[in-house]
Amino acid sequence: MTKTIRAHTNIALIKYWGKADSQLRLPLMSSLSMTLDKFYTDTQITNSSTTNEFYLNGSKQTGNSAQRVFTYIKKLQAKFGVSGNLIVKSTNHVPTAAGLASSSSAFAALAGAFCEHYHIKVSQTELSRLARLGSGSASRSIFGGFAIWQKGTTDESSYAYALTEKPKMDLQLLAIELNQLPKDLPSTAGMQQAQTSPFFKPWLARNEAELNTMINAIKANDFSSLGQQAELNAMEMHAINLSANPGFTYFEPNTLRAIKLVQQLRNSGIECYCTIDAGPNVKVLCQLRNVKEITSRFMSEFQNVKIIHASFGTGISCLN
Ligand code: PMV
Repeated sequence: MTKTIRAHTNIALIKYWGKADSQLRLPLMSSLSMTLDKFYTDTQITNSSTTNEFYLNGSKQTGNSAQRVFTYIKKLQAKFGVSGNLIVKSTNHVPTAAGLASSSSAFAALAGAFCEHYHIKVSQTELSRLARLGSGSASRSIFGGFAIWQKGTTDESSYAYALTEKPKMDLQLLAIELNQLPKDLPSTAGMQQAQTSPFFKPWLARNEAELNTMINAIKANDFSSLGQQAELNAMEMHAINLSANPGFTYFEPNTLRAIKLVQQLRNSGIECYCTIDAGPNVKVLCQLRNVKEITSRFMSEFQNVKIIHASFGTGISCLN
């Protein structure tokens, strides 16, 4: 029976935004993420008697997304000395390309399904390294709870691990979907261009200290410190994009409105923080007691806004 592999997406609280090696996808900085329960990808792999095929949510893909999957499969086949054409079927329970890194769950599930298909036994660390070759953020989606991707300097030393898979913290995430259009600058191009900012190097120099602040916040179960550090790190990333040469931004007018609303809520005593990835949508970090109030404020300030409430997700799993 064909196995289905499920991987959840993750949101980086300390961002990965720059590659040291684009072939191996070695990052310039270490990153830390929260795995999310509401967003995930299910993937199955079977043999194909003709060519490689990739189906996403039931429809056959032909463009760049299919090529990326086939290139990745060939890379893994060469690595493990296996061959054959494959049919990859994925179901994405993530708003694709709308600012939540669907590639994190997609490539984690694909790496897991590949190993399952060829009966290749790997450790979680090795699986994280394999997922990394497909998409950097996917390295963290092997684990539940909070995961750290240590940057490393080689293929062997760059992988993620769980800081804690069952965190004690009351940490909720509200994904505010302001815009459903796919991002116009893919993350690989964005992170390359960001390096032209005069603030990129100083930001990189802060990585270890920011990561430690975040680890300490998690260990101390300190939501305020986690939220402050997450928001600061995200704003630094977007400030670097704006100050690149040429400058660019993923923000849309509604992104700024959402950031201001988070600031207003906070000033009025409703503690919340925001983080934003390579897209216009804002993710609000808060605690359970404030979910209702924050949701209703966003609903009344924005028209047609979709809000999904998520919390901690689990690591990669086999469903059958
Ligand atoms: O893994 P990629 O190539 O989709 O890049 C992810 C980049 C961010 O989502 C912006 C940050 C991160 O660490 O997930």
